[in-house]
Amino acid sequence: MDKLIITGGVPLAGEVRISGAKNAALPILASTLLADEPITVGNIPHLHDITTTMELLGRMGVGLVVDERMNITVDPSPITDFYAPYELVKTMRASILVLGPLLTRFGRASVSLPGGCAIGSRPVNLHLAGLEKMGAEVAVENGFIHATAKKLKGTRLVMDLTTVTGTENLMMAATLADGSTIIENAAREPEVVDLAHCLNAMGADVNGAGTDTITVHGVERLSGTHYNVLPDRIESGTYLVAAAITGGKVRIKDTNPDMLEAILEKLDEAGVDVGVGPNWVSVDASIRRPRAVNIRTAPYPAFPTDMQAQFTALNVVSEGTGTISETVFENRFMHVHELRRMGADVQLEGNTAVTRGVNNLTAAPVMATDLRASASLVLAGLVAEGDSVVDRIYHIDRGYECIEEKLAQLGARIRRVPG
Ligand code: UD1
Repeated sequence: MDKLIITGGVPLAGEVRISGAKNAALPILASTLLADEPITVGNIPHLHDITTTMELLGRMGVGLVVDERMNITVDPSPITDFYAPYELVKTMRASILVLGPLLTRFGRASVSLPGGCAIGSRPVNLHLAGLEKMGAEVAVENGFIHATAKKLKGTRLVMDLTTVTGTENLMMAATLADGSTIIENAAREPEVVDLAHCLNAMGADVNGAGTDTITVHGVERLSGTHYNVLPDRIESGTYLVAAAITGGKVRIKDTNPDMLEAILEKLDEAGVDVGVGPNWVSVDASIRRPRAVNIRTAPYPAFPTDMQAQFTALNVVSEGTGTISETVFENRFMHVHELRRMGADVQLEGNTAVTRGVNNLTAAPVMATDLRASASLVLAGLVAEGDSVVDRIYHIDRGYECIEEKLAQLGARIRRVPG
């Protein structure tokens, strides 16, 4: 297993390009199953989760062509299997996103039930309840979800809680259903909006994405298009925190500041100078040490759970005491135990991490446990004295394109060693 070795202490400086959003690319690639013509998706990040999605589509018999700029053309017409196997679903829970498209377009789907993961139990009951309400027969047997439907029917779906992939699955299923579907308490994440834009470019009739009520009028068929996914707001935030934590000065480009509001507000509160342009954000933390902030994660537009671990790392080296409350996932503090091994003063009180800023972290061998936790360990390594070794970085490769190259470009002393 590859490891990252990071020698901390270099303030980052320069400019870095933000990649396409993983969490938009995954549902958009799944949505190509809805069309009866090839779809080309651009600005796809080069990530392990994308490879897994391609393998998933490929195993179903779907045609795939990737060009040198990572545009992926998907031709769903040769599909032969309507099946997502355990060995792929267990490495990527977002595989569940093929359920809605397969069911509504082909009338059947078998998808391995995703298990729990490092950050909690993460059930998919709301995906299934919504599909059943639209008329699907759903059975869970031997660890598989088996769903069938002659034709899904539009209906009113009131979601018990906001779920991002749940909203996406039901929105995709509704595009080819009979009549209109209204999804209430829908997730408002920018990636949900991006998927809706892509579906509409394919000929769907989706309205209200970005609000908590999405209305989908079913259409007969969806056709080919070319769609570019939006920039990754979590990658954006991670590089901004990398600048802040190292006392650096960094500009991220090819991003969208509008979707970073909650993150930029917290950086501002931390006392970091933030500048914003049409498609860039700069932070300058070279003048003063950041102050610890208080954060409570919640669905968009509130502070994203996917940035919680990175801000925990920033808080532990900032001035004063801060609290980070996690309300989305039940067990998303694995990084706290590893940060402590680097000298952080963090106490867990229920779903809140209380941080007391220390002047220095010290290098230690640490272990990545999930995608964003591993990002926080890399960030801590960038300021820790000595050589930190971050093990199990396959988690990072699931969601960060060329992280060591991008950080090195900003001056970080970081290298990958094969394990
Ligand atoms: C998506 C993101 C992930 C992010 C999360 C929250 C993708 C591919 N992944 O994950 O990076 O951390 O949103 O912003 O977009 N829940 C249920 N039943 C369900 C569905 C969800 O109880 O049927 C619960 C979950 O356990 C969790 C909460 O709802 O506590 C929110 O989860 P959800 O929004 O569904 O997360 P994902 O879509 O899996």
